[in-house]
Amino acid sequence: MKKNIGILVCVLTLSFVAAARVKIQNLLTENLTNPIGLDIKQPQFSWQLASDKRNAAQTAYEIKVSDGKSAVWSPGKVNSSESVHIPYNGPALQSGKKYTWQVRVWDNNGKEAESSAPAFFQMALLNASDWKAKWIEPGYTEDSIMRPSPMFRKEFTANKKIVSAIAYITAHGLYEAQINGKRVGDAYLTPGWTSYKKRLQYQTYDVTGLVKNGSNAIGVTLASGWYRGTIGFTNNINMYGKDIALLFQLTITYSDGSTESVVSDEPWRSSTGAIRYSEIYNGETINAGMDKAGWSLPGYNDTKWSRVKVVNHPMNVLLATSNEPVRKHETFKPVRIFKTPKGEQVIDFGQNLVGWVVLKAKGKAGDTITVSHAEVLDKQGNFYTTNLRAAKSQDNYILKGGGEETFEPHFTWHGFQFVRIEGYPGELKPENFTAVALYSDMKPTGTFTSSNPLVNQLQHNIQWGQKGNFLDVPTDCPQRDERLGWTGDAQVFSRTASFNMNVNNFFDKWMKDVTADQENGVVPFVIPNVLGGAISSAGWADVATIIPWNMYLAYGDKKILQDQYASMKAYVESIRKNTNNDLWNTGFHFGDWLFYRPEDDNDGRAAVTDKYLIAQCFYANSTQLLLNAAKVLGKTEDISNYENLLQKIKSAYLKEYLTPNGRLVSGTQTAYVLALNFNMLPENLRQQAAKRLADNVKSYGNHLTTGFLGTPYLCHVLTRFGYDDVAYKLLLQETYPSWLYPVKMGATTIWERWDGIKPDSTFETPSMNSYNHYSYGAIGDWMYRSMVGLDTYEDGVGYRHIKIKPHIGGGFTNASAALQTYYGQLSSGWKIDNSRILMDVEIPANTTAVVYVPATAANTITENGGALASKGIKVTGAEDGYVMLQLGSGTYHFAAPKPVDANATINLSEYAGKYKVEGGMIKLIEVKMQNGKLIAVVFNNSGELEPVKNAKDQFTSADGSTATFTRDAQGKVSKVKMGALGMAFEGVRQ
Ligand code: BGC
Repeated sequence: MKKNIGILVCVLTLSFVAAARVKIQNLLTENLTNPIGLDIKQPQFSWQLASDKRNAAQTAYEIKVSDGKSAVWSPGKVNSSESVHIPYNGPALQSGKKYTWQVRVWDNNGKEAESSAPAFFQMALLNASDWKAKWIEPGYTEDSIMRPSPMFRKEFTANKKIVSAIAYITAHGLYEAQINGKRVGDAYLTPGWTSYKKRLQYQTYDVTGLVKNGSNAIGVTLASGWYRGTIGFTNNINMYGKDIALLFQLTITYSDGSTESVVSDEPWRSSTGAIRYSEIYNGETINAGMDKAGWSLPGYNDTKWSRVKVVNHPMNVLLATSNEPVRKHETFKPVRIFKTPKGEQVIDFGQNLVGWVVLKAKGKAGDTITVSHAEVLDKQGNFYTTNLRAAKSQDNYILKGGGEETFEPHFTWHGFQFVRIEGYPGELKPENFTAVALYSDMKPTGTFTSSNPLVNQLQHNIQWGQKGNFLDVPTDCPQRDERLGWTGDAQVFSRTASFNMNVNNFFDKWMKDVTADQENGVVPFVIPNVLGGAISSAGWADVATIIPWNMYLAYGDKKILQDQYASMKAYVESIRKNTNNDLWNTGFHFGDWLFYRPEDDNDGRAAVTDKYLIAQCFYANSTQLLLNAAKVLGKTEDISNYENLLQKIKSAYLKEYLTPNGRLVSGTQTAYVLALNFNMLPENLRQQAAKRLADNVKSYGNHLTTGFLGTPYLCHVLTRFGYDDVAYKLLLQETYPSWLYPVKMGATTIWERWDGIKPDSTFETPSMNSYNHYSYGAIGDWMYRSMVGLDTYEDGVGYRHIKIKPHIGGGFTNASAALQTYYGQLSSGWKIDNSRILMDVEIPANTTAVVYVPATAANTITENGGALASKGIKVTGAEDGYVMLQLGSGTYHFAAPKPVDANATINLSEYAGKYKVEGGMIKLIEVKMQNGKLIAVVFNNSGELEPVKNAKDQFTSADGSTATFTRDAQGKVSKVKMGALGMAFEGVRQ
């Protein structure tokens, strides 16, 4: 009988295993779902495994690529666990052709999985000779001041049954195309911004649904955009040329297999219409009365239109778009419509966003509505635009009259929360105004939430800073006459960005422009470089090494390192040329941009960091990252070369910037942060340097003083050297300078400056005061990677080998985050539940993880209520108050007793009392309890005494004072020794 039950259990288990096959899902080609318009010769494939069983992993796969009729590439079963970034390796892919692919996966249960559902990709035009289209410009003489938007049109007939119609479009300037009166695609600000002279993207659209049998019409509108509009805060126009032009090619495939191309060429017609003016900084003017109704429909009479000019432009700079286009996203309705003290009519949308307002109005022909944009109201509550500098950011709409009209701009964008409406016919009603956010259509990948609402708002602000400034290129700000691809800002924020959204293709494209605009290795300040010239400023130019490495870590694709390696190396070599005895102590540098600098700085409290000291740290870091890349790519010769160089850079640094006692010549937070983060100091000096950093933070009353370059690493360094408590104090600091100060002031995005709006509601200097600048949002990386603890090991980048090590503290009772990796969803969260810590973890299939559970011993931890061993969970060690567990995929629920906080048991009131000091100026030290805090009063100065971790009877205060108490034979606190006000003295309790 017993035996029979055994067999039954066995059969049931087997049938369960057979049923629990892995599923294959989310097939991506070049990181995109079913992309059309690829010009990459070896597109890469990725897929995800999903299983409701733990420890699911792939052991082999088989990819099949077909062109719809026959197999193109089917290399057979490959014994490999790789499931992301697998390059196509078959015969050359053909221009314009559509391919489908599928994958089968064998998992570690030995069972063959179902094949995935098919996915597809379609190639773009792979050879310059595939372009039949000619570049065309307007045939009329343009108004050289307003430069109204040129329109082009062309009719054609499609006489046979249409199977597919694909349009390839680009422009010098910006374009919007229509076929038969309908918009082509849903992308905006196309063709996007690249280093146009060297790289010009075109977009590929499947327009099968727009082209019909019989007569058809194409209409395309252009605008100046980045190409020739004002760009670069010096009133520069015609950056890439003074004329804008269109290149358009439509390929129709008929059911009989024949194809036909409709291309831009001599017979097209040109004119202007409703868009009378459009500039990125200044806004757009639309005169509805000048609209040419039906101009993109067949049968429109264009006899009065001009011919076009056919021009020659290089075709070898054309490339297919590889990043996600700019699309419309969230919409906002007015939260308040009001009159300001100045009497202006203003609408508040409740969120600082980037995009524009769609409005509806009914009025007479000629009525003109002006929409102005602003991020903030001033102290008096008036509409404030001074910080936009020369950018007008104004849309003007002239009504044609006779019914409700809808307006929105096409070729501009604004950074705003408020709009001022002038000339509106009638009352402003909320239903007639909608703000639309525009940004690159990157997949949202990360969420973060905690028990602190202010920190959650900070996360919201970081995400909105990213949305507003990832508009085809990473911009510094979206509102003033700047909006440029500042390299420093982008590198500083790049790792945080990779948590919130999938920025892989976005940065891959932009890094190619970095390479394109590098001059002898030197990296200009902004990319695309519209400022002219190139100077490598430390921390800015390092974008060349930092972003490729960050993307490699986040997405696990070697290709970005392969593609960027020459650029990384050229950058490091360009520095090497400018060094003296291995010191990078030449040239211009922005330094630790916007560091803390009090106005009345009598005591040298301004946190100025020597610019060449900073440069040396970044030189070392870039060399280290180049070395890392050389190792990943197996560039043996470079490895030893750069290992040598790195040593020289570090010893030159130590000689020049470190005193024999271990002090840096700049005593700032940024100096210590960079030294520690980039491992500039020998091991034996690091801990004391970290203490100097922590003490420095305390000496500013637990405030940061860092600018752009120190901020991203500040909390990481504190955490790494055991100062989680200080990191949390910084995170939770609510007064300036801090992350939460702007939050407390009502910010909905990250500000350029720590005090963009001062406590008295006045503003920082208007020439540099953006309220949507993502750089300081770099704390997001620490929130994900340290607070919640989601990280990747470098031996399994892209979260193939996951590290989850939460740092619990700051009085938070929970924090959690989720990240969509290429393997699937990874998430972790901790919660303090009275006496326990609960940790919920989700590990995607085909990955492994080491999870650090805060606990004193493995046998105190349970998973889903049972002992670890009973769940087959392997314990790999214990360190620093954590027990480390080795996990495969699956969801896990851990619980462990809450560790006892060494300081939690301290009874502060036993130190309170009056301590008499003999001799000298100071006569008395008073230590008292106030609102639950221990306060010392010495000579009219008072400060909170905070216990030193794990050091009995020792306290420090934020201004750097120290207090050490001693006890009598009965254990009663009897004396205190204080270091305060630059003196040391001792008091005896009375
Ligand atoms: C930008 C920055 C940039 C800086 C260079 C500013 O105008 O807005 O964010 O990095 O210039 O220091």
